[in-house]
Amino acid sequence: MLKKIEAIIREDKVNDVKEALAEIGIVGLNMFEIRGHGRQGGIKLTGRSGTYQVDMLPKIQVNIVLSERNLEETIEVILKAAYTGEPGDGLIFVSPIEKVIRVRTGERSEKAMSYPGDIDDKKKGTRVDDPVQGS
Ligand SMILES: Nc1ncnc2c1ncn2[C@@H]1O[C@H](COP(=O)(O)OP(=O)(O)OP(=O)(O)O)[C@@H](O)[C@H]1O
Ligand SMILES: [Mg+2]
Repeated sequence: MLKKIEAIIREDKVNDVKEALAEIGIVGLNMFEIRGHGRQGGIKLTGRSGTYQVDMLPKIQVNIVLSERNLEETIEVILKAAYTGEPGDGLIFVSPIEKVIRVRTGERSEKAMSYPGDIDDKKKGTRVDDPVQGS
C-alpha cells in the first residue's frame, strides 16, 4: 500500500526536516511554497499605519510518496524536526496513492518506490543495493 504525506511546515524548519528525512533514508520527495492559514486565521501585525491582519502566511509543503510500512517512522521524524511548540507549526496530511509508474523503467508502485539506502534497507542492516557500497 502506498501513501502520500503532505507536511505543511515553517519555512525556517525546511533544512532540519530535509536533513532528518535524509538521515532515515527518505530519498524521493518534492516541496513547494504555499500560502494559507489555520485556526488562528493568520496573524495581526502592527506597522506605522496601524494594526492589520495578514491572513495568508507562507509555509512550505513537503510531499513524500512512500510505502505504508515506512509511514509512521517518517511522520515521527517530521514531527520532531518541525516542532517549535508555538501556533503555526503546521499540519501533516496523509492520503492513499493508487499508482506510481516510473517513466524510465515502467516500474510500478512498491517497486518504483523502493530506493537504495531507504528506510527498509537500513532496518535490515544491509545496503547491498547502495551503488557506492556495491561498486
Ligand atoms: N484544514 C486545512 N486544510 C488545508 N490546509 C490547512 C488547513 N489548516 C491549515 N492549513 C495549512 O497549514 C498551515 C499551518 O497551519 P497551522 O500550523 O497554523 O495549523 P493550526 O491548525 O492553526 O494549528 P496551530 O494551532 O498549532 O497553529 C496553514 O498556514 C495552512 O497553509
Ligand atoms: Mg494556526
